Amino acid sequence: MDIEGLKARLAEANQEHLLKYWDQLSDEEKQQLYAELSHLDFKEINGFFKAAMEDLNSASEKLDDLLEPLPKEVWGGVVETSEADLLQYDIDGLTEIGESRVAVILLAGGQGTRLGVPYPKGMYNVGLPSGKTLYQIQAERLLKLQRLGEKVTGNSCKIPWYIMTSEHTKNATLDFFKKNNYFGLEEEDVVLFEQNLLPCIGFDGKIILEKPHKVALAPDGNGGLYRALNHSGVLKDMEKRGIKYIHVYCVDNILVKMADPIFIGFCLSKGATCGAKVVEKTFPTEPVGVVCKVEGKYQVVEYSEITQKTAEKRDSNGRLVFNAGNICNHFFTLDLLKFVSEPAQEKQMKHHVAKKKIPHVSDKDSKVTIKPDTPNGIKMEKFVFDVFHFATDRSFAVWEVIREDEFAPLKNADTADKDTPTTCRRALLNLHHRYLLAAGAQFVDKDGKVLPPSSEKEDIGGGDCKREDQDVVVECEISPLVSYAGEGLKKLVEDRTFSTPVYLDQDYTMEEPEIVEGEW
Ligand code: UD1
Repeated sequence: MDIEGLKARLAEANQEHLLKYWDQLSDEEKQQLYAELSHLDFKEINGFFKAAMEDLNSASEKLDDLLEPLPKEVWGGVVETSEADLLQYDIDGLTEIGESRVAVILLAGGQGTRLGVPYPKGMYNVGLPSGKTLYQIQAERLLKLQRLGEKVTGNSCKIPWYIMTSEHTKNATLDFFKKNNYFGLEEEDVVLFEQNLLPCIGFDGKIILEKPHKVALAPDGNGGLYRALNHSGVLKDMEKRGIKYIHVYCVDNILVKMADPIFIGFCLSKGATCGAKVVEKTFPTEPVGVVCKVEGKYQVVEYSEITQKTAEKRDSNGRLVFNAGNICNHFFTLDLLKFVSEPAQEKQMKHHVAKKKIPHVSDKDSKVTIKPDTPNGIKMEKFVFDVFHFATDRSFAVWEVIREDEFAPLKNADTADKDTPTTCRRALLNLHHRYLLAAGAQFVDKDGKVLPPSSEKEDIGGGDCKREDQDVVVECEISPLVSYAGEGLKKLVEDRTFSTPVYLDQDYTMEEPEIVEGEW
């Protein structure tokens, strides 16, 4: 350990306090702190802090005047598109998948503080009849999509799944996949890579110590993706595999259509290098970012960054002016990802600042970590969509989808009203019920009474969440291995009447689907 060298670096950066407890530490703790501090570039971090605070102080009112809604030419939507065009997008997307030119990146390095479970969100079981976790649902969607791609091209194909974790989620995620045999995917096609951590900093610019031998560190935001892609060798791996298009998404949307062929087909039709899937934002305070233009450049303005006044603006039809709600589903060409991940571009992406209550070592007793009641510092995060800046009218695409079909995020515990395990579970069961109705199935309850499209009170399974009587949909679940997005169901259910609950079951070990009716 070059402790003198470290001391000099700290003094130069005005961060000497980080060694305040050095003499009290055990040898092991000294090693730990030394290793942590050696990895930090204090000059860079101080620069990030200065820029972040300047940004924080420049009021969002300024941003408001610069916001413009999206131009028509970059936009397309499921509802407005003809059946023929949708089919063409689907085939085009599936062809790319079938040729093994598509990969997915999952952003799973977040700490999931609002949900409040001590393990990665992807491992959460929202209480579906199948008991599947978000990770299992996603893995099975990929498996199914590979089969659909293979059908179109006649080739065997792969959709590599790159999962960005952080120190907080890495080991648990890896263990979970191993324990579950990667849910039938090939181990080599599930690639975990780790994002960077940044120190949390007090308002005075001093890095916060969580414990005498531990810096308070947090992941550097989902925009840490680009730095991580560069450092981890993922871009090279993609190149080696012949990947051309990448779907990036966040872990918590139970309805996520990974590598959605229609979205890919649409982006290709636009010649886009970068695209975003959106849903119509429904009310001004909804916590979703909006895709828009700021000073002529594409951007997502986060819910925390827009003023109420601008969020409430409506057009002559009464629709919100800034209504392209970001659902964290992005399309990129590999060429664009390579470009934006180069340090010259990556460094241009600014950090967003969040004031947070950061646990810190007590001044009075260094053995105690204090959890403050009010914000005592900041976390700095880059956002994944900030690379939209590099897109132009000709290289950007926005695809609007139907919320009920594609967006139900898991953000909060069941004590909240919105975006909870219960709302996610209901959204999925509801969608699957609609798929089955569209395929010609009919449902009856225990007394043989035909059920309407959406029924009232029922109790559905428990999981990691609270189990209670709630308003739910008709209980239908379809394994992603049976159907990715409602396709292929007719032959199984047309003109059949089912008593609920009904589960179209299939996992990777089963050749054929099995229909389980009337019980779980
Ligand atoms: C995100 C979007 C927001 C969108 C909303 C829709 C960003 C910055 N914001 O907001 O515009 O309307 O989803 O649900 O994308 N993550 C990391 N590393 C990190 C932090 C987060 O990988 O350091 C991952 C999380 O694991 C998650 C995703 O990024 O999968 C989104 O993070 P989250 O904090 O849930 O974002 P929201 O604030 O909900």
